[in-house]
Amino acid sequence: MSQTDTNPRKILVLGATSGIAEATCRIWASQGARLFLVARNAEKLAAVAADLRTRGASYVDTAVADLDDTDNHPALLSHAVNSLTGLDIAYLAHGILGDQAKAEQDFNTAAQIIYTNYMAPVSLLTWLANFCVQRRAGTLAVISSVAGDRGRKSNYLYGSSKAGLSAFLDGLRNRIDREGVTVLTIKPGPVKTSMTSGMKGSEKFADVDKVAQSIVKAIDKRHDVLYVPFQWQPIMFIIRHIPERFFKKLNL
Ligand SMILES: NC(=O)c1ccc[n+]([C@@H]2O[C@H](COP(=O)([O-])OP(=O)(O)OC[C@H]3O[C@@H](n4cnc5c(N)ncnc54)[C@H](OP(=O)(O)O)[C@@H]3O)[C@@H](O)[C@H]2O)c1
Repeated sequence: MSQTDTNPRKILVLGATSGIAEATCRIWASQGARLFLVARNAEKLAAVAADLRTRGASYVDTAVADLDDTDNHPALLSHAVNSLTGLDIAYLAHGILGDQAKAEQDFNTAAQIIYTNYMAPVSLLTWLANFCVQRRAGTLAVISSVAGDRGRKSNYLYGSSKAGLSAFLDGLRNRIDREGVTVLTIKPGPVKTSMTSGMKGSEKFADVDKVAQSIVKAIDKRHDVLYVPFQWQPIMFIIRHIPERFFKKLNL
């Protein structure tokens, strides 16, 4: 898939004010893409949209929406694809880390993490997958996390929401790849964004622009799964294979 000025790609971005999404959109804007941006904070969204217009996006439209409002998804998504006059890429980037300590004591906190990171994407992807299958085209690029590869005591609520999302994407790919629709599961390790600011060691986390470059490349090459930075693939391979009798004693 390549970008030309005469045929700019039509890209829907859900969670467009996320640090990773913004960096990815900056690349697409410089390629002249048509963008439809969805985020819940109107002020931040307007600033991101204005920036992307100055960077060369050929079209930018926006909608303010809380993506937890799954009842609104069909109307939101059909409005977005009408505005874009089609859809080449849907990029799902919204998510919350949540408060693990609080979630250990309070089910409502746990449920919020699972709802935003798993239930809302399942709702969005159900509509988007069926839209793309009807047209036998499109890429669904979704940010999950390495945290979904194995539950750890430090963030197993977030991790389990992303594990569910990754498993959903595996199954969705198995269903619709043969229908001409690509499903990319993006599994970042720790990245320097507002989600991780102030965390111990955050100065060593991956650079968001480099992560965005890898994401754009993986979408262009129609990859299935992206670990980013790449070293997280062997790291998570090892972590997944540590026997439970040792793993349960580790402080991870
Ligand atoms: N940063 C990392 O280390 C890392 C690692 C692995 C995976 N990820 C994943 O990467 C994705 C992007 O995260 P990021 O690092 O770019 O963090 P971020 O800058 O904090 O972005 C998260 C975005 O999600 C939005 N959001 C949360 N709940 C929402 C809702 N109900 N409706 C609409 N928007 C909502 C936030 O909107 P507001 O600005 O309005 O709050 C924010 O724009 C997330 O799925 C995250 O789980 C991040």
